[in-house]
Amino acid sequence: MKNIAILCSGGDVSGMNPALKHFVEYALKNRLKPYFIYDGFEGLIDNKIKEASYCDVAGIINKGGTKIGSSRSERFMHATYRKQAKENLQKHAIDMLVLLGGDGSFRGMEIFYKEHGIKFCGIPATIDNDIAGTSYCLGVDTALNIIRTAIDAIRDTASSFGRAFVIETMGRECGYLALVSALTSGAELCLIPEITSDLAAYEKRFKTEIANGRKYFLAIISEGIKEDTQEIAQWFEEKIGIETRVSILGYIQRGGNPTVYDRLMAYKFVSHAMNGLLQGMDDSVICYNDGGFSYKSIEDVALKKYTLDTELLSYFKELSNV
Ligand code: F6P
Repeated sequence: MKNIAILCSGGDVSGMNPALKHFVEYALKNRLKPYFIYDGFEGLIDNKIKEASYCDVAGIINKGGTKIGSSRSERFMHATYRKQAKENLQKHAIDMLVLLGGDGSFRGMEIFYKEHGIKFCGIPATIDNDIAGTSYCLGVDTALNIIRTAIDAIRDTASSFGRAFVIETMGRECGYLALVSALTSGAELCLIPEITSDLAAYEKRFKTEIANGRKYFLAIISEGIKEDTQEIAQWFEEKIGIETRVSILGYIQRGGNPTVYDRLMAYKFVSHAMNGLLQGMDDSVICYNDGGFSYKSIEDVALKKYTLDTELLSYFKELSNV
């Protein structure tokens, strides 16, 4: 019986728990011994590694976050700690690793593989949806649905009070969450880090719209834009002349019960990751594009920069219409 371990690294996403559940079940079905590595690479360095069973994953499919914890490990950037991590895997005779994480975690894994040859398969998991080579990362659908619920609720007050609302989403340097949310919530303004927007152009349009009867505005902005969120609110008050409030969605968009889509994607990502490892793929990431899964080399994913889908960017231009 071979030993296989799973770990979560970086920001937690809703979908990690369903992935853990399927990992244990699929490992046992394939006569592999499943192990959990607790608290990400930090736990790997500190030997927080335990054999997992059905009991560990009972009742977690509907829970956000990750039962085994996660971390952003500064120590894993240093060769001495990576050596310690490899020794811990050896102590438990772990042959294969499934890694759920974002681009930073994959970069760490790429170095770890080159140094120590630990066989692994990466599963893209970040609400930012900013990993090169895959159009979908686990957790994004749940985050988008939470954002949608929040914006729909904020619209009630915006329309009742005739206010502008500046709503900030997460996403780091990637505008995916903000753009998709703006498109699907009927927002008037969307600002993302990928595109420098000219607010002066919006000023003329918004004033015309107010003259034509518009009573309120929803602006969805990504946390990575160069302006501060408060500055955009100030712009609405001073230039557009409308009472404005700010709502920073923050960490509520990272948690919550995983959607059906994320539960199913967790199932599929894990099945493909483990099949790949069993078929001898030693250093790949399982990616999802155009409705299908494919294995890409870690270098193709970790060392490339994600760019926003061109079709989405064209919709951004339509939405801006300035
Ligand atoms: O990568 C996911 C993410 O939630 C980003 O959108 C956000 O910028 C960041 O993590 C927050 O990081 P932390 O959990 O370290 O505060």
